[in-house]
Amino acid sequence: MKIDVLPENLHDAAVKLWHETGLTRPWNDPAADLRRAVEGDDSAVLGAVDDGTLVATAMVGHDGHRGWVYYLAVAPDRQGAGVGRLMMAACEDWVAGRRIPKIQLMVRADNTAAAGFYERLGYTDAEVVVLGKRLG
Ligand SMILES: CC(C)(COP(=O)(O)OP(=O)(O)OC[C@H]1O[C@@H](n2cnc3c(N)ncnc32)[C@H](O)[C@@H]1OP(=O)(O)O)[C@@H](O)C(=O)NCCC(=O)NCCS
Repeated sequence: MKIDVLPENLHDAAVKLWHETGLTRPWNDPAADLRRAVEGDDSAVLGAVDDGTLVATAMVGHDGHRGWVYYLAVAPDRQGAGVGRLMMAACEDWVAGRRIPKIQLMVRADNTAAAGFYERLGYTDAEVVVLGKRLG
């Protein structure tokens, strides 16, 4: 298994995986999210690929101040085997390699499993409230 920038021929598989793992919401367009991240200078979509098959994804980027991770997903039949940990290490390397000193992410309040996973990896609650507004 190799972790690298997601090849274009697996873009559709990534969107499918995001649906399968419950990461999509009706108000988001995951294919457009993927395209923007792939095209951006300060973002990327990483994929773990095993024998041509997509095993995991993570969208990573930075805003000049902090690194961010979105769409971390491991294929259901490959979960619990250390792949999520490897994907987060790849995201951390990507961010640290751009001399950004901190990485952070948002976890939906009802995703207690993911919160347990991140805690295990040393991530702590930043005790901030995230405010958002749709811009059209
Ligand atoms: C969350 C997710 C990415 C974790 O990936 P994974 O490959 O199953 O996790 P790993 O096997 O790499 O686990 C890494 C460590 O976290 C621990 N861990 C995993 N889930 C945990 C949980 N719910 N509570 C506590 N620890 C947990 C593992 O035991 C392992 O510990 P170890 O390395 O010290 O032995 C994966 O389950 C997933 O894709 N979930 C659905 C999508 C999702 O919710 N993504 C996150 C969006 S914010």
